[in-house]
Amino acid sequence: MKKIYYFTGTGNSLYIARKIADGIGDVELVAIKDEMKKDCIVIDSDFTGFVYPVYCFGIPRIVRDFLVKIDIKSSGYFFCVANAGAPKYVPANIMTEKLLKNKGVSLNSAFVVAMPNNYIPMSAAPSDEQIKHIIANSDIKIAEIIGFLKEKKSGYIEKGLFFVRFAHKFANFFYKNLQKASKNYNVSDKCNSCGECAKICPVDNITMIDGKPSWGKNCEQCMACLQHCPVEAIEYGRSSVGKKRYWNPFV
Ligand SMILES: Cc1cc2nc3c(=O)[nH]c(=O)nc-3n(C[C@H](O)[C@H](O)[C@H](O)COP(=O)(O)O)c2cc1C
Repeated sequence: MKKIYYFTGTGNSLYIARKIADGIGDVELVAIKDEMKKDCIVIDSDFTGFVYPVYCFGIPRIVRDFLVKIDIKSSGYFFCVANAGAPKYVPANIMTEKLLKNKGVSLNSAFVVAMPNNYIPMSAAPSDEQIKHIIANSDIKIAEIIGFLKEKKSGYIEKGLFFVRFAHKFANFFYKNLQKASKNYNVSDKCNSCGECAKICPVDNITMIDGKPSWGKNCEQCMACLQHCPVEAIEYGRSSVGKKRYWNPFV
């Protein structure tokens, strides 16, 4: 049995997970957001992958919580694929390596793939041309990853440039600040009460109150609500105003 567990905000991680699953064949794709609703999560596949975006140099909080919660009953092949706007500066896989080590499991391989940046407070989405270019390049890297995984090779762990390896620790500050940061979301008069934001939120953190979204205390900062809003009515403070939105065009 082969399984890939993924978390995605704007589709990049799902795009990568699907491509790897298709390339390997006979792989079940499992959404971490759904697994987290279970009381206990048993990993018993003999080929297991984790695919996730990078948040603040580290892994998303929900992925960390998932890796803490899992009960591993397999001694098979384990790999992970992080994806990020600036892949050279990504030590996120160190976190996964450590969390799995706590469970007595060694990662066989770990990769980082460059994908379009979705962190809108920092920058607008790339142009459509740039998005196509970045994703075409990611396809080359994904094909290499598939080749590696098919042979079940071990010992290749991508951790980012040496001088940024400590930076995954910043993710802990990011987790602490998540609840406060979610207060930055606001909705403009453009909102037509379609409820798409509540449907797309991977952690069911949005409730429609009087036809407008209201954010709860469980935000992961994945930006799905803001990026997916069909009328661009959701903003993150003032930092997103007037900026191009991003959604993986193939998902
Ligand atoms: C809250 C947040 C923090 C991020 N932090 C980083 C980062 O530290 N380094 C980086 O290169 N990209 C960062 N990104 C960009 C995402 O990792 C990247 O766009 C990823 O491909 C999104 O994947 P998804 O579409 O599956 O959600 C961040 C994005 C978000 C939403």
